[in-house]
Amino acid sequence: MTLLDGKLLSENIKSEIAAEVDLIRARGGKIPHLAAVLVGENPASEVYVSNKIKSCEQVGFKSTLIRRPADLGQEELLAIVQQLNNDPDIDGFIVQLPLPKHIEEEKITLAIDHRKDVDGFHPVNFGRMAQGMPAFLPATPFGILEILRRYNIDTAGKHCVVVGRSNIVGTPISILLSRKGYPGDCTVTLTHSRTVDLPGEVAKADIVVAAIGIPEFVKGEWIKEGAVVIDVGINRIADPSRKSGSRIVGDVDFPAAAPRCSYITPVPGGVGAMTVTALMLNTLKAAKGEIYPK
Ligand code: GUN
Repeated sequence: MTLLDGKLLSENIKSEIAAEVDLIRARGGKIPHLAAVLVGENPASEVYVSNKIKSCEQVGFKSTLIRRPADLGQEELLAIVQQLNNDPDIDGFIVQLPLPKHIEEEKITLAIDHRKDVDGFHPVNFGRMAQGMPAFLPATPFGILEILRRYNIDTAGKHCVVVGRSNIVGTPISILLSRKGYPGDCTVTLTHSRTVDLPGEVAKADIVVAAIGIPEFVKGEWIKEGAVVIDVGINRIADPSRKSGSRIVGDVDFPAAAPRCSYITPVPGGVGAMTVTALMLNTLKAAKGEIYPK
């Protein structure tokens, strides 16, 4: 069994990005600039956004954090989005989700200029991705593709079972892995809460992508001998043996699954570590006009 070290890959990729930023600076070019909008005080969102800003510093990007209280009105948030859409110094931006209940996330996502949508959540990017056109890919699926690519994991003709059908992970990764080319050419089964025999489906998988958001949901005995397991989950569970009283686990029962796998991502240090780095890759692509020429 080989651990898929997302943390190490992510450090390597960030060094590559930093080298590219150095070149841009040496040529007197414009430094890539990412903005993040954070509304309210969701503790998980605070951590994610602060990691995004820290990563920008690490690779040499400019970053702007726009913080607003939870009672911000929808129209006010739409005005911020318009301002970022129109600001020529901003190459890409994200509005951290979830948003407070009185704000319609769909309206906000649709208001973001797809050319600056480095989250890849806008339907234009989603549609282009589904058709194999250049697009900003959502960060977690993009991170998973990079893990498969950089570990040279064979995907052609493999049976991939995705557990979970969210708009930001399960659905896009199922499309990406079914597409022509590498990493891809998989036969994909997308499973969810209404799937009749989930253990039976997972047992057929050469590649499992677990993205259901339930701690240790995928059991070790479901995993076929030699399978590749990509665990997207980041769940905090009680652990009285720890000083903090809790620990982070994935959507896969790692101790039971790992001995059966050829490759598996640890949690933490697997997919999660790659997600922020994928956002940095998208921001660099945005700054260079790689997806949408400037
Ligand atoms: N909330 C959870 N994941 C994400 C993400 O990738 N982007 C944004 N904007 N919000 C999130």
